[in-house]
Amino acid sequence: MIVLRSVAELRAAVAAARGGQGRIGLVPTMGAFHDGHLSLMRRARELCDCVIVSLFVNPAQFTDPGDLARYPRDEALDATLAESAGADVLFAPEVRDVYPPGFSTHVEVLGVSAPLEGVVRGTGHFRGVATVVTKLFNMAQPDDAFFGQKDAQQALLVRRMVRDLDLPVRIEVCPTIREPDGLAMSSRNVLLLPDDRRRAPALARALTAVVDAVAAGERDATRALGAGAAVLRAAGIELEYFAAVSTDALEPVNVIAGETLIALAARFGRIRLIDNALVDPAVPRA
Ligand code: PAF
Repeated sequence: MIVLRSVAELRAAVAAARGGQGRIGLVPTMGAFHDGHLSLMRRARELCDCVIVSLFVNPAQFTDPGDLARYPRDEALDATLAESAGADVLFAPEVRDVYPPGFSTHVEVLGVSAPLEGVVRGTGHFRGVATVVTKLFNMAQPDDAFFGQKDAQQALLVRRMVRDLDLPVRIEVCPTIREPDGLAMSSRNVLLLPDDRRRAPALARALTAVVDAVAAGERDATRALGAGAAVLRAAGIELEYFAAVSTDALEPVNVIAGETLIALAARFGRIRLIDNALVDPAVPRA
């Protein structure tokens, strides 16, 4: 694996891979790799001839400066992990190269960026995500790009942006990877205090309670969410949102009739965690 920092070097590597008709896969990340990231890289390795992993802690998507300052960073360890997962290129650009002086162009995906994370983090968050993902697509020119289902709203936003702007990239959304106790893997998990880390698996248990309620025949969204809310209350979790929304527009649903996203965000001190589950009464549980 090679580590590249400039777009010119990256483009030369892509051109060389394309010379042999290679399929280019991009895994956009902000580093602090865990098994969730590595599963995306391994999936890219299965499908693509050249796997590019971008590592860029994107300041434009942090609406809380403290969150940006705390974000875990260890490029040397990330490079080792990315190589072990089959990456060919680790692309780690400098902030000044991604956002040159006078940078003034942004990509905004209306609608799906507004609810849930958009309410809590502000519209600037997804504007930052959409802008940097567009730039990374232009830099790496991938055929395929890989995102995690844990960030369900982000994945929907990227799909919408690719469709609306006719970006020539196939988006693949890969399953959430969980710790043995159910906690969704996240770069922020390492920042949890021991007691918060012990309570955090209640997020996954709450989602399971909703999935179970729907599987048992509950169709009323408030009552289904209530089953999960009881789990969260018992664990003393400070919720930011816990919602049943449509999977195409993220609009609240009252009746769970088709595929529905159950999404939650919770705060453990200064650390926010998100998680989600898909429910569909028409699809029997695996
Ligand atoms: O999911 C992330 O790590 C980031 O939001 C992304 C997609 C790499 C954009 O900075």
